[in-house]
Amino acid sequence: MTLNTLAAALGADGVSRRYGATQALDGVNLRLERGITGLLGPNGAGKTTLLSILATVNEPDSGRVSAFGLDPRNAAERLEIRRRLGYLPQELGYHRHFTVAAFLDYVAILKEITDRRQRADEVARVLAAIGLEGRASTRIRALSGGMRQRLGIAQALLGQPELLILDEPTAGLDPEQRLRFRELLSDLPGEPVIVLSTHQADDIAAICPQVAVLLRGRVRFTGTPAELAATAAGRVWAADERDQGAHLSWRGTDGRWRHIGGQPPASADQVAPTVEDGYLVLSHAAGAQ
Ligand SMILES: Nc1ncnc2c1ncn2[C@@H]1O[C@H](COP(=O)(O)OP(=O)(O)OP(=O)(O)O)[C@@H](O)[C@H]1O
Ligand SMILES: [Mg+2]
Repeated sequence: MTLNTLAAALGADGVSRRYGATQALDGVNLRLERGITGLLGPNGAGKTTLLSILATVNEPDSGRVSAFGLDPRNAAERLEIRRRLGYLPQELGYHRHFTVAAFLDYVAILKEITDRRQRADEVARVLAAIGLEGRASTRIRALSGGMRQRLGIAQALLGQPELLILDEPTAGLDPEQRLRFRELLSDLPGEPVIVLSTHQADDIAAICPQVAVLLRGRVRFTGTPAELAATAAGRVWAADERDQGAHLSWRGTDGRWRHIGGQPPASADQVAPTVEDGYLVLSHAAGAQ
């Protein structure tokens, strides 16, 4: 492992993972500092695989990861990472007969919050943070999908972890809850290391000072959202008609066609690129390889 990666709060060095014939991760290098990093990538890019390895519930075939200079291959260091970790898996298996409060209490016990009173306070804190305080005694099976997702976020927040790994936390959240989630993450005390995956480029633009793009098991971009948007500079244009020469075209809410391509026509009405445009240019380029 390079010195640079070791020094990072969270690092991956040459991480590869294969499932049968599928190369899910193919030599991932990443170093993340404190603050929020967004991970963007299409379905099957390897986001969940990478996050599960960073969360120490999965292991790479080759390469290394580290968190706070600790090595998860060492049992004692792995335990230390887990003590500092809050993890929202993409699919959290719930005990559906549990009530919301009983489930959180159970997770809090697993997180070694042994004092009953302290545990009750902590459960109340995360319930309020995620707006589920009115549902404390509802059984999990009776929650809506979005409420269940918020419960998943709440359990990750228990114990104020220094490392938060959230796999698609905003999936299934309504617009108001997404805004509330963004505010919640931005206001967490103690400057934790947060890495979250999402398909929403506007989540990235709104709350992630850093973004990494994962395509076909490789990190193809790391930088700020503005830098990601800039990768599409000069390659986004609008027109009244669909341009067959573009790589991607869609009709905007104003009824005009928006295009992304290698070279806009000379007369094109060029548009300032967004984070999503930058991401689409990168993924199109990776797909064409
Ligand atoms: N347990 C598994 N067994 C076999 N193949 C797997 C397994 N987990 C993931 N894969 C494969 O590895 C690749 C990466 O999957 P992964 O779930 O990491 O992608 P992802 O970026 O999280 O996708 P999504 O956006 O759909 O959640 C895919 O081709 C997937 O089919
Ligand atoms: Mg996934």
